[in-house]
Amino acid sequence: MIIAIDGPAASGKGTLARRVAAAMNYAYLDTGLLYRATGAKVLALGGDPDDVDMAVMAAEKLQPEDLENEDLRREEVGNAASRVAAIPKVRAVLLDFQRHLAKNPPGGKHGAVLDGRDIGTVVCPDAPIKFFLTASVAERANRRFKQLQEKNPAVIYERVLNELEERDARDSARDIAPLKMADHAIHIDTDRLNADAVFNAVMAHIRTHM
Ligand code: C5P
Repeated sequence: MIIAIDGPAASGKGTLARRVAAAMNYAYLDTGLLYRATGAKVLALGGDPDDVDMAVMAAEKLQPEDLENEDLRREEVGNAASRVAAIPKVRAVLLDFQRHLAKNPPGGKHGAVLDGRDIGTVVCPDAPIKFFLTASVAERANRRFKQLQEKNPAVIYERVLNELEERDARDSARDIAPLKMADHAIHIDTDRLNADAVFNAVMAHIRTHM
C-alpha cells in the first residue's frame, strides 16, 4: 500500500505524512530531502546547483547519512534543491531509490507514505490513495516564517515569502515532473484547517479506501 502526498513548499505535507505513517505503521519517505541533500552537497563543494555534471555526481553519491543533516531545512538549501530538481538526470538517479523504497518499505512494514511534488504523477502513479495539499502563499510563508523564527529571531518575513514564491514558480514551471495534482488525487486546501483537522480528514479518506 502506497499513500502519495504532494503539494507546494510549506503546505504542511511533511507533518501530515509523518503522522499518517505513524498512525498506519507505514514507512515514511520525505522525498524533498533527497533533492535537498543533493543541493547541499553541491553547495558544500562550492559549486553551482545549475551545473548539470556536478548535480548529477552529487545525486549519484548520496548516502543515507546525508539525509540526516539538520542544515537541510535551511531555505538556501531548499532553493538549491529546487534547482537540482529541474535537471532530468538528477531526477532519474533519485527516481529508482524512491520507487524501490515505496515497493520495499524497510522494517517489514506493509506500506509507505511518500511526500513530495511528483509522487502521485511520476514516482508512484499507481498509488491507490493520493492527496494534494495546497494553501495560499501568504499562509505558507507565515507558517514557514514562524518555524524559522523559533531558531533564528532575525529571520525576515518578506524574504521567506519571496523565496517560497521563487521556489513555487520554478517547481511548477519546469519541464520535467512539475508540481501538478494527479488525476483522482484528493485536494485539500489547508488555509483554514489546522494540522489536526487535515490529519483527521486524510485518515477518514484512507479508512474508506482500505
Ligand atoms: O519538499 P521540500 O521543500 O523539502 O523540497 C525541496 C525541493 O525539492 C522542492 O522545492 C522541489 O524542487 C524538489 N522536490 C521535487 N520533487 C519531489 C520532492 C521535492 O522536485 N518529489
